[in-house]
Amino acid sequence: MSVKEMSEKQLQVIILAAGKGTRMYSSKPKVIHELAGKALVQHVVDSAQALNAASISLVYGHGGQQVKDTLNDDSLIWCEQIEQLGTGHAVQQATGSIQDTANVLILYGDVPLLTQETLEKLLEAKGEEALALLTANLDNPTGYGRIVRNKSNIIEKIVEEKDASDAIKEITEVNSGVMVVDGDKLKQWLSKIGNNNAQGEYYLTDLIELAVQEGETVKSYIVADNKEIEGINNKIQLADLEREYQKRQAMILMTKGVTLRDPNRFDVRGTIEVGQDVSIDINVIIEGQCKIGNNVKIGANSILKDAIIGDNVEILENCILEKSIINSGCLIGPFARLRPETQLGENAKVGNFVEIKKSTIAKGSKVNHLSYIGDTQMGENVNIGAGTITCNYDGAYKHITKIGNNAFIGSNTALVAPIEIGSGATIGAGSTLNKNAEAEKLTFSRAPQKMVDGWKRPTKIK
Ligand code: UD1
Ligand code: CA
Repeated sequence: MSVKEMSEKQLQVIILAAGKGTRMYSSKPKVIHELAGKALVQHVVDSAQALNAASISLVYGHGGQQVKDTLNDDSLIWCEQIEQLGTGHAVQQATGSIQDTANVLILYGDVPLLTQETLEKLLEAKGEEALALLTANLDNPTGYGRIVRNKSNIIEKIVEEKDASDAIKEITEVNSGVMVVDGDKLKQWLSKIGNNNAQGEYYLTDLIELAVQEGETVKSYIVADNKEIEGINNKIQLADLEREYQKRQAMILMTKGVTLRDPNRFDVRGTIEVGQDVSIDINVIIEGQCKIGNNVKIGANSILKDAIIGDNVEILENCILEKSIINSGCLIGPFARLRPETQLGENAKVGNFVEIKKSTIAKGSKVNHLSYIGDTQMGENVNIGAGTITCNYDGAYKHITKIGNNAFIGSNTALVAPIEIGSGATIGAGSTLNKNAEAEKLTFSRAPQKMVDGWKRPTKIK
């Protein structure tokens, strides 16, 4: 039974993100610290959006403007909590837009790994009841609110660690904080909670006792993977969940047939689409949105950002590719840097210590060693000699270099743009050209070679 079939209720989400995150020791609010290249709270917003939430309210406090600038999302309802008086008080700040008939899901901006599947299970567990909690069984429950159940295993209340007796501290089932509540009941119960507890806070968890008092049955779903409910309070936990997230990405890719030389040394900070027989060596970082074809090899220490890679491409070690399109059969690297708007045609080759920017290199062309190619439109089967530079910048403006099919550019040539090299042209090594070179002709500019008679190397007098 899908969530939709089960209930016609619309889903409204409230994300608590007002905490400062003192233990991060940072000028940034905790929830905008990044996991896998994305703000913690963005992970939570994305999960809420994946559930097709009718509305998402964000309770913010510390560094509100920074959180707003980071999320930059007009569809969110922003609710300021000026003073942090507890999780119950935080939810109260967001009730203005909550419908009586809605299912209200409460999430936390610093709990980034909760999956859509788990949240759907929680909604399913709630069914037509008024309230359901996401809980977990922990080996070490210290610090968490404990779930107290009666003899029939029905939830009675939650007791916070700071308010717990020794007997209650023995309980290993804990409150994740995540819950789903009927909109009308949420508003009713929130108006009844007080702050008469060890921390003098308005506890959201007091809702449970109120529900039980009114004869409601509190439902629960026990999370299958405890990492999902972990929150982040410091940089150690941030690093721990980062690795956990990356391990999951690696598992998904290996399940699809990707060969990862070491899943512990592989990072995805964005999304990746892969074909068959893709092999990725250690320390590869995937950023933005990357698409990789069939039979592709990516060498160690390479970084791909928003790259589209065709079939049968080999990227050797230590390459950086950004916003580039690589057609099938290309060979790149080692140590190549492809900057934004680079496009390589089929079977093109870009070798070591080559930088390419905003250029099209048509099929079969080779730039094999130590070159800078910028703002260039290169034809097919061109051979660029080692050390060739396109001088695209005159100090104020960028200019275009055009190189025709089958041209051969000798080593250590400087092409001062704007310039056009005709098809089949040959340029002599060491030339500096600032005028067009004609097709099929040999062009060079080079000081004539001299021989000096009677010259001797200086020697040191001892
Ligand atoms: C809360 C739960 C506890 C649960 C634990 C799980 C309560 C009373 N306790 O405890 O049962 O086991 O989470 O981690 O709910 N926040 C605000 N405004 C506030 C207070 C908190 O936005 O006024 C936000 C915080 O930024 C944080 C989250 O709510 O992201 C949880 O608050 P925190 O004070 O850490 O609750 P815990 O004591 O951990
Ligand atoms: Ca906490």
